[in-house]
Amino acid sequence: MISTAPNTLDEQITDTPLRPQSFSEYVGQEKIKRNLDIFIQAAKKRKETIDHVLLYGSAGLGKTTMAHIIAKEMGVNIKVTSGPAIEKVGDLGSILTNLNDGDVLFIDEIHRLNKMIEEVLYPAMEDYKLDIIIGKGPAARTIQLDLPRFTLIGATTRLGSLSSPLRNRFGSTHHLEFYTPEEIERIVKRSAHILNIGLDQAGAKKIADSSRRTPRVANRILKRVRDYAQIKNISTITNAIAEEALKMYEIDSLGLEPTDRHIISTLIHKFKGGPAGIQALAAVTGEEVQTIEDVYEPYLIQIGFLARTPRGRVVTPHGYNHLDIALPRDYPDTLI
Ligand SMILES: Nc1ncnc2c1ncn2[C@@H]1O[C@H](COP(=O)(O)OP(=O)(O)OP(=O)(O)O)[C@@H](O)[C@H]1O
Ligand SMILES: [Mg+2]
Repeated sequence: MISTAPNTLDEQITDTPLRPQSFSEYVGQEKIKRNLDIFIQAAKKRKETIDHVLLYGSAGLGKTTMAHIIAKEMGVNIKVTSGPAIEKVGDLGSILTNLNDGDVLFIDEIHRLNKMIEEVLYPAMEDYKLDIIIGKGPAARTIQLDLPRFTLIGATTRLGSLSSPLRNRFGSTHHLEFYTPEEIERIVKRSAHILNIGLDQAGAKKIADSSRRTPRVANRILKRVRDYAQIKNISTITNAIAEEALKMYEIDSLGLEPTDRHIISTLIHKFKGGPAGIQALAAVTGEEVQTIEDVYEPYLIQIGFLARTPRGRVVTPHGYNHLDIALPRDYPDTLI
């Protein structure tokens, strides 16, 4: 399956040449780039660090890439970790005390930090102080360490799961949006160029249209289509070749894969189109709740096939249409 799921270890290595290294190589998200560029230039002029930055948006839209670019444009080092990797207060303490002045600390999946660690992070973000408790019981005492001036960059796919005290401590919050088809087309062409893959205009458009408006998916599909073309001894990917390959991989014209279609058809056939709770939907489709929420649902909602209502997930008329299933006669007017 070609999903938006995080990069595999193999991809972390093979994707390195594809990762944009500067704002000028980073396609799209123009408003965010402009704002961050102003922050960075201003901070550099004052010879200060930039305020903590929170990046949120669906999987594969370029949060990690953006964090690396920010550090690069600031001319500082970046230390990378993630919410679930910081298990103990001591882990965070050693990360923070090992930073140098100006460094960026990137915490991926920051919504998965545990409460105790969050509380240690507050004074660190606000006053660059770290409180540590030495000893136990009545003899315990707190000492305060000064930390270097660092910039925290947090990334999350779920802004709603972040506690509000943590959210409020970021100087700026940026929402990465799904890309436009034209932007995805530019990304596909750029990647093809870097990887030395022959690709014509119509072939690029075909791949872009099936890429769920997500750069990670675009790169993955490009590589799979290249494999297909290579086996057929074809040197340039055209519309026809892309179409054949996508068909073989069971990716449809909107980029939906069997699991996406399974989720929609399950909602229609087992839940009368909804509303269905996410737990029930997960149980019946055999997918994990988190996978549905993070990988499948955002794009299905984005293209208007699925709606999230207070009572659960509902298939929209567009969703019925795409699967060629007639809308039930009692379909609620309010949802059309
Ligand atoms: N704006 C962009 N222009 C060109 N390529 C991009 C862009 N954004 C992302 N990419 C490509 O897509 C891949 C995935 O991006 P990245 O790892 O930054 O996503 P992410 O938002 O951090 O995803 P996750 O939530 O799974 O961590 C990168 O390896 C990069 O090659
Ligand atoms: Mg990432």
